[in-house]
Amino acid sequence: MDVAIIGCGYVGLVTGTCLAAIGHTVKGVEKDPRKLKSLQDGHCPIFEPGLQELLNENYASGQIQFTGNVKDAVRDAEVVFLCVGTPPKPDGTVDMSYLEGAGKEVCDALAELKSEYLVTIIVKSTVPAGTNRKLYNFLREQTKAYVQVVSNPEFLKEGTAVQDCLNPDRIVVGGESPEAFRMMRRLYDPLIKREENFLTMNWESAELTKYAANSMLAARISFMNEMTILCEHYGADIEDLRKGMGSDTRIGPAFLRAGCGYGGSCFPKDVAAMEHISKAAGYTNLFVDAIQTVNSNQKRRFAEKIVQKLGRPIEGATIAVWGLAFKADTDDIRESAAIDVIRYLLDKGAIVRAHDYKGMEHMKALFKDEVEWCGDPVTAAAGADAVAITTDWPQYTTLPFRKIAATMNTPLIFDGRNCLHRDVMRENGFQYYPMGRPPVENKLRLKQKV
Ligand code: UDX
Repeated sequence: MDVAIIGCGYVGLVTGTCLAAIGHTVKGVEKDPRKLKSLQDGHCPIFEPGLQELLNENYASGQIQFTGNVKDAVRDAEVVFLCVGTPPKPDGTVDMSYLEGAGKEVCDALAELKSEYLVTIIVKSTVPAGTNRKLYNFLREQTKAYVQVVSNPEFLKEGTAVQDCLNPDRIVVGGESPEAFRMMRRLYDPLIKREENFLTMNWESAELTKYAANSMLAARISFMNEMTILCEHYGADIEDLRKGMGSDTRIGPAFLRAGCGYGGSCFPKDVAAMEHISKAAGYTNLFVDAIQTVNSNQKRRFAEKIVQKLGRPIEGATIAVWGLAFKADTDDIRESAAIDVIRYLLDKGAIVRAHDYKGMEHMKALFKDEVEWCGDPVTAAAGADAVAITTDWPQYTTLPFRKIAATMNTPLIFDGRNCLHRDVMRENGFQYYPMGRPPVENKLRLKQKV
């Protein structure tokens, strides 16, 4: 099929590249000249494991091409994906202007091209209930093109987006016509392993499914984060609870890892949007209010624990923060717990030295010279009074901890992601404070600062 992708940001680029990989002919439109140049040179402007390699293959074979011109892209297209941003406005409602602008531009181009075929416009962006219907009515009033609108929310996770896209748990399609569903079924055919994974519903149900799924996942994490308080109080281990609860098939093991709070471009935004969607429907959604409160409390609780257990005044103390990205395998720092933790420590007068494998440049833009930036975690820890881990990069688990303990001012680690091994901490003489797990309080006393 000929596919056009409007907006080659994270979602658009992953979707377009994967559709090219399963045999569609894809034209991606990118308006930002810098990003377009990078794509036309065959370079992926974002970091996502496996994406560059897949792009190389499909770009070289001509299966995917990039342009700045909507008309070029939609000339032969049977389906057009709208993958533009739907950022929150200051009042929390969603800014629809990019989506409407892109939709209108597509329709104007189709009208100008005198296209006689029905074109399916697919909304990938996360949008509140009612948006696809509004967009359809808007396009019908504003343009002469022959189009139908489909809602097709994406469920990609950063770091595994390519795999998620090529092996979807389910494909959700919201629409109003059997013709639209048939078109979508054909588009995704190679990815549909079982018929029941292709779910068709009306626009509003598809739109709400996305918000409900992300809110549910955020709720599961927040529930476990809240449980860390009880675990720490009563001496229980959240990891044992996770296994005990997760092995109940009605609960399942996924998204029950406790930590110092979730972040990213989706959970915080979508849970907040759910609050506004609820308000617009005339009620206060107590559940999503609680999720947000628990998450911000958990980030603060982690930072407060550092201050309480440090064994010296926080003012003037040096804290090495390991991990800046909102999770491992991404350079994305949006709503990362590290932002809140670093801000809290700086406000208390601490000296912060930070390290990350991918997210350092983005964080530098935020904190500039308020923070010392370190090229590796061992250097960041040398001379520090404590290490605080805010991202579970697997590389942190295999570091030379004996050497790190010897070079730190005090061998003290706060593990906000429960990613280190307690035995390794004990054997190397660390005081170790995970989240909701019994700490390792070594008999080897903290070295006294001289
Ligand atoms: C999420 C959804 O998973 C995805 O379906 C949607 O399309 C976009 O939002 P993403 O934001 O990429 O994906 O990352 P995800 O892996 O879901 O993690 C989000 C946050 O939750 C991270 O900060 C992560 O550290 C945290 N998390 C995740 C936990 O704290 N515990 C867990 O058990 C899982």
